[in-house]
Amino acid sequence: MDMFIVRGGERLSGSVSVSGAKNSALPLMAAAMACEGETTLYSIPDLVDVKTQSQVLGSLGMDVNRDPDGELRLKTVDETSCIADYELVRRMRASVCVLGPLLAKRRMACVSLPGGCNIGDRPIDLHLKGLSALGAQIRVDRGYVIARADRLRGANIFLGGAFGSTVTGTCNVMVAAALAKGTTTIESAACEPEVVDVGNFLNAAGAKIDGLGTPFLTIEGVEQLNGVKHEVIPDRIEAATLMIAAAITGGDVCLKEVRPDHITAVIEKLREIGVTVQLAFPDQPAKKQSVTVRVTQPLRSVDCIALPYPGIPTDVQAQLMSLLACVPGISIVTDKVFPDRFMHASELARMGVNIRRESASAILNGVSRLSGACVMASDLRASAALVLAGLAAEGETVIRRIYHLDRGYERLEEKLISLGAHVERVRDEPQNMPDSLKLTDGESRPSYSELLDALTGPHWNQSVSQQNTESVTASQDPADED
Ligand code: EPZ
Repeated sequence: MDMFIVRGGERLSGSVSVSGAKNSALPLMAAAMACEGETTLYSIPDLVDVKTQSQVLGSLGMDVNRDPDGELRLKTVDETSCIADYELVRRMRASVCVLGPLLAKRRMACVSLPGGCNIGDRPIDLHLKGLSALGAQIRVDRGYVIARADRLRGANIFLGGAFGSTVTGTCNVMVAAALAKGTTTIESAACEPEVVDVGNFLNAAGAKIDGLGTPFLTIEGVEQLNGVKHEVIPDRIEAATLMIAAAITGGDVCLKEVRPDHITAVIEKLREIGVTVQLAFPDQPAKKQSVTVRVTQPLRSVDCIALPYPGIPTDVQAQLMSLLACVPGISIVTDKVFPDRFMHASELARMGVNIRRESASAILNGVSRLSGACVMASDLRASAALVLAGLAAEGETVIRRIYHLDRGYERLEEKLISLGAHVERVRDEPQNMPDSLKLTDGESRPSYSELLDALTGPHWNQSVSQQNTESVTASQDPADED
């Protein structure tokens, strides 16, 4: 297992390109199973999740090949298997996206239920509700969803749930309805750009889907879909992460190959915090667009709420929390999509910020400087958030279990290094701990002399130590600022 050593304090500058969107790529790959002939997807990022999805599709009789330049070709060679095994599905929940295509094309599916994960409950009841409405007979047996159908038929489906719409659920039902007999309407469809990307792909393949990007979809079923060539949209979550990397280091970074219209809520929130964000060529295709992020003034604490699109994405909540952790003052971060997605909060607390959980919110009292520490990544976006915090922290930060990061960010450390960051990937072994966080007896903790220094030394009167002991309800003391 690898870990990152991040040496904080470098101001990021330069330009960097955004990769293709993971959360488009995964359902698009599954949707290719519903098509006849070969599908080619461009700008598919080189990620562990893409490899896992390729394995899932391989186990379902598809031939999947990715070129180093991001071109992925998919073709069904054997339609006999309908089983998506637990060993693969448990590694990546997006493999549940094969359910709709399997039912539509092969009329049966046996797909493991994904179960919960570190970001909270991950039910698929809405996927099943939609597919049942299309005529599938579904039961759950020994942890597997077992579904059968004759030709699916169009229906009126309401896909809203307690936490809003469902992204992969909308993709699943949309693919199935595209091959159903008759017309389907979906109300409360997810409006995320990734859903629109999958819908555009299906339309290019011969589907008749109206209303993409709105909560109301009308889908007229067709007899057949045919493989096409399709370019995946830029990854808006990676773009937002890199923008926050620039902001948190007080940097000046230009992002290329980006769709700013997919991240309006993040751009507006960064501007509210006091970050300067400039868009170039917003009317041009993504390949020509760019976004420049720079910090020219002290930043302000703000509240933010993660919501379904077009709100701030839940997938950027953790990264925004890292930024606000470095802005003196009280900020409240709420997640309405995954109300328990706060595993990163206690790791950020280890870096010196005072955070209290209150149901779906975290209330934080930002500090002028985080302090480097050894922290544990719990999921993909939490990992990214901890890397960002490390970039801004004083001293070295070790982020363990960064395999989460490799699932969903293409060469993140290389991109950050190209902008001037100090990030090193090493094996997670005691001898690789940096001296500043050196092990004494197998545990990662400061040495006795460092602790003594922290208790008695000159740091005692400085901001980080003081703020660590403050209650989150304490008013901001101007003396705490740099
Ligand atoms: C997608 O997951 C993304 N994954 C997630 O990205 C993202 O966090 C999430 O959408 C929300 O934007 C992919 O696209 C591969 P949902 P998905 O169904 O589709 C509840 C990342 O870090 N719900 O839209 O699984 C659910 O519990 C990740 O890249 C039901 O109640 O999420 C949640 O509260 C992780 N019943 C809300 O809806 C259902 O049947 C939204 O979930 C389905 C979902």
